[in-house]
Amino acid sequence: MRGIILAGGAGSRLLPVTTVSSKQLLPVYDKPMIYYPLSVLMLAGIREILVISNPEHLESYRLLLGDGGQLGMDVSYAAQDRPRGLADALRVGREFIGDEQVALILGDNIFYGHALTEILGRERARLDGCTLFGYQVSDPERYGVATVDGAGRITSLEEKPARPRSNLAVTGLYFYDNEAADLAAGLKPSARGELEITDLNRIFVERDRARLIDLGRGSAWFDTGTHDSLMDAGLFVQILAKRQGIRLACVEEVAFRMGFIDAGQLAVLGKAFAASSASGYGTYLQDLAARA
Ligand code: TTP
Repeated sequence: MRGIILAGGAGSRLLPVTTVSSKQLLPVYDKPMIYYPLSVLMLAGIREILVISNPEHLESYRLLLGDGGQLGMDVSYAAQDRPRGLADALRVGREFIGDEQVALILGDNIFYGHALTEILGRERARLDGCTLFGYQVSDPERYGVATVDGAGRITSLEEKPARPRSNLAVTGLYFYDNEAADLAAGLKPSARGELEITDLNRIFVERDRARLIDLGRGSAWFDTGTHDSLMDAGLFVQILAKRQGIRLACVEEVAFRMGFIDAGQLAVLGKAFAASSASGYGTYLQDLAARA
């Protein structure tokens, strides 16, 4: 399975912060936002990643993540010339996907939960068609909303419905079989000129090949598209960091825990950070490596 992080878009709800900066490079407490979705893909065991962003921001992502080799990964980049919709990621990434399955994650989505790694691994292994991840919210009318049968099969999918049929919002993480790339290429743009992810997902629903996994109440899901939600996500990460001493979405740590790099490589990364910054990030990595 290959992974795509969609990190473009207009970011208009965050203006003027996003006038010159890509939204997914903004800090969520102590890390660039893109670290959070990147770590989710890594926890699913995915090592080949495509980062899609606006042409003017791609270089910044390259500077941040390089070729991914330092994390034992392979990171490549592609431009989306304008925000053409979420399903457009599969069109831009068509060549990258090749004949593999693909996980698409939105660059501004943050997931946290004790069972997340297990859920991701399990759903990756049993993927057949498309798997969406749902989260119960109090304001479903703002999201894509799903209903499911007892076996987790999606029975309906609606985009921002005025009268939602459930409280289950569809989050920004999507697992697809390879056929999704061709299906996305055949989608017609919506009235707002975008390739809608819900249109793609509906094809799988119509074929009875779409499942939804409820992430459950023991997990947290944030999207960080507004000033308040960005602040909320940052506070959440800060609370975990202060209370438990854990760093959420520390990609070097995740690479180590997933076996992408060994303790020696982790120590080298930690040393480099510690030498250039007193932020504590480097010593955190060095401590992890020493305890291994
Ligand atoms: P949105 O939050 O729906 O849109 P946006 O980021 O452009 O923000 P705003 O509504 O404030 O203008 O997008 C969800 C995620 O997908 C976000 O990470 C941006 C990304 N995205 C793209 O990369 N390309 C696109 O064509 C679209 C629509 C979104």
